[in-house]
Amino acid sequence: MHPFTSFNGMAEEDLHVLVAFLRTVPPVHRTNTPKKIVVPMFESVFLPVWLATFAARETPPAAAPVAGILRGEYLVRAVGHCGECHTPRSAMTMAVDSSRFLGGNSKRTGPEGEAAPNITPDRGTGIGNWTEEQIVTYLGTGNRPDGDVAGGLMGGNIQGTLAGYKDMTPADLRAIARYLKSIPAVRNKVD
Ligand code: HEC
Repeated sequence: MHPFTSFNGMAEEDLHVLVAFLRTVPPVHRTNTPKKIVVPMFESVFLPVWLATFAARETPPAAAPVAGILRGEYLVRAVGHCGECHTPRSAMTMAVDSSRFLGGNSKRTGPEGEAAPNITPDRGTGIGNWTEEQIVTYLGTGNRPDGDVAGGLMGGNIQGTLAGYKDMTPADLRAIARYLKSIPAVRNKVD
């Protein structure tokens, strides 16, 4: 589950400050949950082969972009790892199809059996009808343009535990919305 192929796109400085923060978290003495993976040789053989074959890693920038569409791209691709859920996966290999970036997943290939909508600017099947402002409001509050609220995993991402997408700065939310408006539209109806 740990989306390191996306986090790999984080700038070195951001990784360092992230670790510095983790070091400030009070230690918790708690026995770890036993691993659930019981497939023989899964971690020693299967997983490394799958990763080498199918897991395309992001390329980190020398420094994190601080503003504009480039900042939005950085937050979406690396830090926010939006593509882990929203980019279509092959039902056979579960590899991410980067040629249809953020084109959505049905329940069959979606995260934890949930469908993740197409969030490209396609008007028929994506969020092409959402304004930049509506995307900012959704990520900042969970409120959808149609009056409903974000549910499932996305609701959790927005509300977070200590912090979620709702706690990003207004400038970062705006940068993400701008970037989402700028990417190629992918026609893919998610049901
Ligand atoms: C852990 C999986 C996951 C991640 C990571 C994730 N999303 Fe989502 N997203 C979902 C799911 C599931 C939904 C559907 C929510 C619902 O049914 O209410 C959703 C819904 C949305 C919607 C509403 C689209 C619509 O048509 O209803 C937008 C916009 C969105 N996500 C943007 C993002 C952005 C931007 C990021 C990264 C900053 C992101 N998501 C990261 C799973 C995810």
